[in-house]
Formats: sequence, structure tokens, C-alpha cells
Amino acid sequence: MSEDALVQLTNEIKACVACQLKENRTQVVPGVYGQSNGICFVGEAPGYYEDQKGLPFVGRSGKLLDNMLEGIGLERDDVSILNVIKCRPTTNERGNRTPTESELRFCGDRWLFKQLKLLNPRLIVTLGGIALKFFIPKAKVTKYVGKQHNTNYGLGIFVTYHPAYILRNYNIMETYNEHFEEIKKTLNSTTNETTHIHNTQSKSKSKQKSLSDFFKSD
Ligand code: URA
Repeated sequence: MSEDALVQLTNEIKACVACQLKENRTQVVPGVYGQSNGICFVGEAPGYYEDQKGLPFVGRSGKLLDNMLEGIGLERDDVSILNVIKCRPTTNERGNRTPTESELRFCGDRWLFKQLKLLNPRLIVTLGGIALKFFIPKAKVTKYVGKQHNTNYGLGIFVTYHPAYILRNYNIMETYNEHFEEIKKTLNSTTNETTHIHNTQSKSKSKQKSLSDFFKSD
């Protein structure tokens, strides 16, 4: 990976004024980068907290994502975390809204795709239906979830749920744990020296956490 190219691209993303989402954003959220040829999680779009901090997945969903990573021996810094959309889609100051199909295509093609080309991840994990839709427009999460799929972008993806969905449907936490185990297995089967999965036993700690743990600090 050319770090210079990634820095330059990130600066371009931060300065983007190409669509209407610039109007209501506090700041652009380009995403964070882990090791090259590593794992890359792709979510939908920044929400309120992400827009405030300029970082992806820092609200409740992000806490669950961190916990899931920890469960398979990874830390946030080990992985790349991106969104298809780089600015918070909102109708007013507090309310998030689902990005439109054209916002998804416009921002994803303009920025996410270029980030992925530079990062060259060994595994892309889509979080939820909107991220999946960017890669496979007609796909439904319920049909694609828990498996790897080829995409028109020439990139393979592993499809899992958005952490916000798990926070609302805690009964499928067991399945979510299985997906992260699968992600770990895939990474271990292709590990090289640039990626290190900490040699901890899988803790499946998230199973022991109650929902309230994720709601404490925000
Ligand atoms: N949900 C997303 O899809 N992305 C974020 O960064 C935060 C919440």
C-alpha cells in the first residue's frame, strides 16, 4: 500500500463538497486504516457521534463492534473501518436518515472504492444491508448473511449484520459471534506477517455482556 496515496486520498475525502450532504455535516468521516492486506469493515454512514468526532463507529454500535473484535483477538487499530457514505445523512440536527441509493452509489464509487483499491484488504466485511447494497445492489442481508460472496467490483465480501441491528435483536448475538469466528478463521487461513491476530483464545465475551453495557457511556 502506498501510504502517501492513502493520506492524499483521505485529505481529498475530508475536503469533499461534491454533494448535498456537505450542508448538514459537522465534519467528514473518512474512516480509519489498519494494516494493509488486512481486514476492512464497511458500514453505512456516520451517525451523530461519528459526525461530532470525525471517526467511524464511536457510538453504541461502535462499542459492540469493538467488543466483537476483542472476542476474536483483534483491536480496533488492527483493522480498517470505513463507511460507504462519508458524511452524516440527516434531516435535522439529531435525526439520522437512511442514505438514498444515489448517495450510496455516488459516494461509494467516488471514495470507498478508491480507499479499498489502495488498502487491498484480504477480507472485506459488510456491516448491514446498506453496505451490502453498495457491493451487490439487489442483495438482501437475510439471504447473503454469514457467507462470502463475489461482487462486481472484483472484491470478495463477507456479509454480516450491522451492530445496531444486533443491539435491537440481541437474540441473534450467538449467530453474530459465529460470524466473527468465521472472519477469524478466514484471516488465520491467509495470515501473513503484516496481520497479527493476537494469540488469545476466542473469548466470545460479547455473549456475557448485557445490552446495558453498550449503552452506559453515550
Ligand atoms: N453506523 C454506521 O454504519 N457507521 C458508523 O460509522 C456508525 C454507525
